[in-house]
Amino acid sequence: MTDKTGQQATTEQQMRDAMAQKLIELGAARDPRVVAAFRTVRRHLAAPDVDMTETYQAEFATITKTDEHGVDISSVSAPRIQAVQLEQARIEPGWTVLEVGSGGPNAANIAEMVGEQGHVVTMDIDTDVTARAERFVAETGYRNITVVTGDAEGGVPDHAPFDAIIVTVQAADIPPAWVDQLKQGGRLVVPLRMRGMTRTVSLVREGDRLISCSHELCGFVPMQGAGEDRMRLAVLHDVDGEEVALRLDGHPEPDVEALRTALAQPSTKVWSGVTVGGMEPKDHLDLFLTTVLDNLPLMAAKPGARKRGIVAGVSPLGIPTLVAGGSFAYRTSRRSDDSDRWELGAVGHGPEDEKVAERLVDEIQAWHHEYRSRQARIEVYPAGTPDDQLPASGRVIDRPHTRVIISWP
Ligand SMILES: C[S@@+](CC[C@H](N)C(=O)[O-])C[C@H]1O[C@@H](n2cnc3c(N)ncnc32)[C@H](O)[C@@H]1O
Repeated sequence: MTDKTGQQATTEQQMRDAMAQKLIELGAARDPRVVAAFRTVRRHLAAPDVDMTETYQAEFATITKTDEHGVDISSVSAPRIQAVQLEQARIEPGWTVLEVGSGGPNAANIAEMVGEQGHVVTMDIDTDVTARAERFVAETGYRNITVVTGDAEGGVPDHAPFDAIIVTVQAADIPPAWVDQLKQGGRLVVPLRMRGMTRTVSLVREGDRLISCSHELCGFVPMQGAGEDRMRLAVLHDVDGEEVALRLDGHPEPDVEALRTALAQPSTKVWSGVTVGGMEPKDHLDLFLTTVLDNLPLMAAKPGARKRGIVAGVSPLGIPTLVAGGSFAYRTSRRSDDSDRWELGAVGHGPEDEKVAERLVDEIQAWHHEYRSRQARIEVYPAGTPDDQLPASGRVIDRPHTRVIISWP
């Protein structure tokens, strides 16, 4: 596609090439066809109000809508996470692919990968988003993209079956339509929330179940419509916007008053001797911890709470926190003697602070000794599947439509 001015086209191309190079360096884009898609798609056209250079930053997500509670509900996802999901989907030329959650640029990435013989259906529940996607498709000239308005809960039966379905909105469950409309052996890539932890999981259909091939840490806006299932917050501290809260996702109801009192008291730290590299992700550890510990919600803390020393760390995706009665302990780290590495530990609060922190540290050590080199396997079965037809061990998460099992083979 050419622009009216050669100069403009050159600048755009340079931005796209730089972004593609960054995606390669980050390890997000590896398949040459994924890289080629990012070198080609004019993603800035989907966000005309945003500085063009920003739209070509690998980690930049453009928030396009926020709800009445201040929660982001629509965005153009960052190129890095789009690349991760495209890699997970292993898209082939000629495929028919459904994208759940629309906007335009990612549908265009997929359109580049499936080619003219393939077809992309991109759906969104929000007519503002589908109107924007329609405009983007018209402006960029893709003829193999169909934009549909609807609730993803029902999928898009008119265009099924799909070789792959890529979901770009956080899902707590997997509606039967997604499985039914996916070909046998086809791939569902979905930001699946499991006990508060969201991972984009690549799942292959085998009969009526889905089996994971990979999972990566991610953050996505929450599902709306029939599948809406937001986490509840148990607020432990809220002064001058320095909020600290536990995100409950099927966890037992906590004794909030006791935990509030515990947070206000001095803490005890316990160290594990287990170290991680500065850039090493901890998402596998956290998934392990939620597999073995029954009551481990994520703690969300605002940066102000850290500044004031109320908590020892913050992460936008939350920190695993073991709750036991009126005490709790959350994962933390400190720089180890080997300065490039960080030692993992736990900060305990409450009458049983040390005991709960030690329990968390025991499991960090168990992960290090036995599970660190293993990959979690995530399987999805229809709701109602009897226990004896599930894998023998693992964490079972029951949702309205499915039974999700995390195991460590
Ligand atoms: C992160 S945005 C999509 C980003 C887009 N795929 C891209 O790469 O630019 C998530 C979208 O999911 C949509 N969404 C939320 N719940 C939905 C549902 N039940 N059915 C269809 N779309 C939904 C939101 O309206 C929002 O636009």
